[in-house]
Amino acid sequence: MSKYEVNGRLYSAEPKPGQCLRTFLRDLEVFGVKKGCDAGDCGACTVWLDGTPFHSCLVPAFRGEGRKITTIEGLAKDGKLHPIQQAFHDAQAFQCGFCAAGMMMTTASAAFDEAHKADLPHALKGNICRCTGYRSIVDALHGKKNIEDDVAGKALGASLPNPFTDAILTGKAHYTMDITMEGMLHLKVLRSPHAHARLKKIDKSKALAVPGVVAVYTWEDVPRRLYSTALHEDHLVDPDDTYMLDNVARFVGQRLAAVIGESEASAEAGVRALVVDYELLPTVFDPMAAMEPEAPILHDKSEVITDNGNIFCTLQGEIGDVAQGFTEAEAVHEHTYSTSRVQHVHLETHGSIAYKGKDGRWHVRTSSQGPFAARAKLAYLMGIPAMQIHVYTERVGGGFGGKQEMVSEDLPLFASMKLGGRPVKWEWTREDEFIGATTRHQMTTKVKIGAKKDGTLTALDVQVVSNTGAYGNHASETLAAAMASPFAAYRCPNKKGIGRVVYTNMIPGGGFRGYGASQTTFAMECAINELAKILGIDPFEMRRKNVVRPGDNVESIWKEPSDASFGSHGIDQCLEIVERELKKGNGVKKPEGDDWLEGTGAALAMLECGPPTEHRSGAEMKLLPDGTYHLACGSSEMGNGITTAHKQMAAAVVGVRATDIDIINADTDRTPYDTGTFASTGTVVAGKAVLLTAEAMKTDILDFAARHTKTSVEQCRLDIDAVICGNKRIPLSELHAKGAKVDHRFTVSRRAYLSPRTIAFNVQGVRLAVHRVTGEIRILQSVHAADIGRPINPMQCRGQLDGAVAMGYGWALIENMVHEEGHMVNPQLRNCRVPVFADTPHTDIFFADTIDAIGPLGAKSQGECGINPVAPAVANALANATGVRFAHLPFTPDRLFGAGLAKAK
Ligand code: FES
Ligand code: FES
Repeated sequence: MSKYEVNGRLYSAEPKPGQCLRTFLRDLEVFGVKKGCDAGDCGACTVWLDGTPFHSCLVPAFRGEGRKITTIEGLAKDGKLHPIQQAFHDAQAFQCGFCAAGMMMTTASAAFDEAHKADLPHALKGNICRCTGYRSIVDALHGKKNIEDDVAGKALGASLPNPFTDAILTGKAHYTMDITMEGMLHLKVLRSPHAHARLKKIDKSKALAVPGVVAVYTWEDVPRRLYSTALHEDHLVDPDDTYMLDNVARFVGQRLAAVIGESEASAEAGVRALVVDYELLPTVFDPMAAMEPEAPILHDKSEVITDNGNIFCTLQGEIGDVAQGFTEAEAVHEHTYSTSRVQHVHLETHGSIAYKGKDGRWHVRTSSQGPFAARAKLAYLMGIPAMQIHVYTERVGGGFGGKQEMVSEDLPLFASMKLGGRPVKWEWTREDEFIGATTRHQMTTKVKIGAKKDGTLTALDVQVVSNTGAYGNHASETLAAAMASPFAAYRCPNKKGIGRVVYTNMIPGGGFRGYGASQTTFAMECAINELAKILGIDPFEMRRKNVVRPGDNVESIWKEPSDASFGSHGIDQCLEIVERELKKGNGVKKPEGDDWLEGTGAALAMLECGPPTEHRSGAEMKLLPDGTYHLACGSSEMGNGITTAHKQMAAAVVGVRATDIDIINADTDRTPYDTGTFASTGTVVAGKAVLLTAEAMKTDILDFAARHTKTSVEQCRLDIDAVICGNKRIPLSELHAKGAKVDHRFTVSRRAYLSPRTIAFNVQGVRLAVHRVTGEIRILQSVHAADIGRPINPMQCRGQLDGAVAMGYGWALIENMVHEEGHMVNPQLRNCRVPVFADTPHTDIFFADTIDAIGPLGAKSQGECGINPVAPAVANALANATGVRFAHLPFTPDRLFGAGLAKAK
């Protein structure tokens, strides 16, 4: 046996042939070593060998023999955080935390000296963070403290740290895959190499003969029930068009067979040994072509009902008289804009482990934004009551909408049920994510917009085509979102639109931060600038003149009244802030030379906080025997900081420190029901449930204390760890004991529903330089103003916005899933890049000063909408710099030239 020294502890172990150090360390249950790519691109697996950082996924395990291996678990000494851990703690330099171990192992090493600190874009080139936008990481490396003290009764509006900070920073926080279980089996899938094909036969015999393979499942083995992978409160909003395993492949990457092995290697070998006889079918990738009468039809109409052939659904409406509106217009702009397909790239990939528990029930540990909705789908698919299934999350390493999908839970559960309840684990690779998960819907939007000479809008006509790919999960809802806020944001008496969702043989679309509204905000905000240009009106003035005002109906193209209204209205402040900051400048000059062109641009975005369909959340709160509290909330924490915010909201009501409240979340056995953490609902719905529950807790304590002391409730008040009734002070621990004697449990729970919804705004400003020869774009100044009501935790809100804006820059400038005939040609992070440190400009973030009348404690949603105005602001700045309207994302140099950069002024 070879000897390995890991964090000062000696292990006798033998790596498997060809095993990398990352998986070897995880086999030793050193789970602080994470996987984001297994290809050397993300840095989540960074460890030290004799003090030097390496990406452990690139290091053969045997190279660690005889060397001192240090992982995040070995960084703290004698119970004291390493200075870099302390710096990450003080700056809260993480959100989901999945990248944090690798970031700290890179930056804590002796090699990371002052020269490295002075050149962070270069020094951090090997570590990706998808959540933070890197700003808080810079803060940590510069020793900035972003957290405030946790003071009883002052939790609301305080920048308090994430309750799981120490566990995350020391590697003790367990993410979905950070567990070993006795008798664990591994699942791998065969993914379709063809964009459209019928499976005539799958020969399993060679796969079953692979040593270690215990089972192979195909479409002939699994329940034949149609469902949608999308997670929503109302499953009817998504088409049931998907089978667990099907005999027709409709996109490259679709899962076709599951192989279960005693090891990942045997399962993979089993997949390679499958022999499939395909009958190739005609393909269609372009949604316009898919709408033609002779196009190949993707779904059999006996199974999936569509509007017409491949047109899954059509949404249309008109208010006023658009034809008349264009007659009155004195200027008209008409153009087609399109946005690209991008992937969420949450650093923790999808994954689930299913097993039978000692209680005889089925348990699914998963990385999900909606465990309750996933449970309902699993129960339906397996044909068993939901109560027999327990779905839970540990820590989730990012989601961004990608985990609002039930894509990794069903096959492990099915296999476990077939294999005597043995745990079955399915951990996705990065390539699985790129070719087999979901993407932002690619949309093409034609806008025709008219106005009077003074800029007053008279008519708006939009046509949207959304390419949903092979399946319709989230298709109708993203289209509905696309047709709503971006057009409701402007007063215009005459609006009409038609949107179509079209099936093609592309990878399916899905929910993604911004959820359809990002795509049409891009089109609308570009169009507003173009119209302003025709009229010679300043774009800020154009927006001010036409943006919706308090008291206006929130109406897009439909006459039906909306349940959304202005609980507060901070768009004027946001516009003013961004305009002021851009005018003021930040001192950063464009590079020298005539070939660098400079321009500024801005865009706004409006968000109806929460989906128009139903959304429900529940919370439960208990007074514990020691006088502290326990809060259980069904919403999922995926780095959005919702557990921190929920603790703060509850603490504010009962007047304690946030740390006096323990919290659990997202567990179908241990927490109340929650539809899921998506669609900007974490604060406005789950937060409302927490608020109502905490208020009920307070009432319960005061009522009991009043009865117990025989005083009136009016004479009782909560005082941190005691209740004071008249001149009597009873510690809460004592009150709890009194309650126990009479079977009073101090346990309350409340539910919240979404409606009515309030409205948030965001404005992004950009000043950039573009090189007319190379097409390089440099962001010189980035300003973002958000109208999010009262920030429950300003530091976290800023972090969410930093992350959303960074993602917006990625979408606008870098991220590019390249497909040829449905095949993604760049399914690796080094080829399909997301912003690394060097790609991410610093953004100055501002909040409008508003307190919302609808949102709980004056708060509105903030994690989602920040992305929406970024791409159009970049486009408007590019147009300002070059005189050319670039209308198709992303703005990579090759595409800029294709779209006329050479003609730049
Ligand atoms: S997992 Fe090793 S670099 Fe990404
Ligand atoms: S906090 Fe960095 S990836 Fe989530």
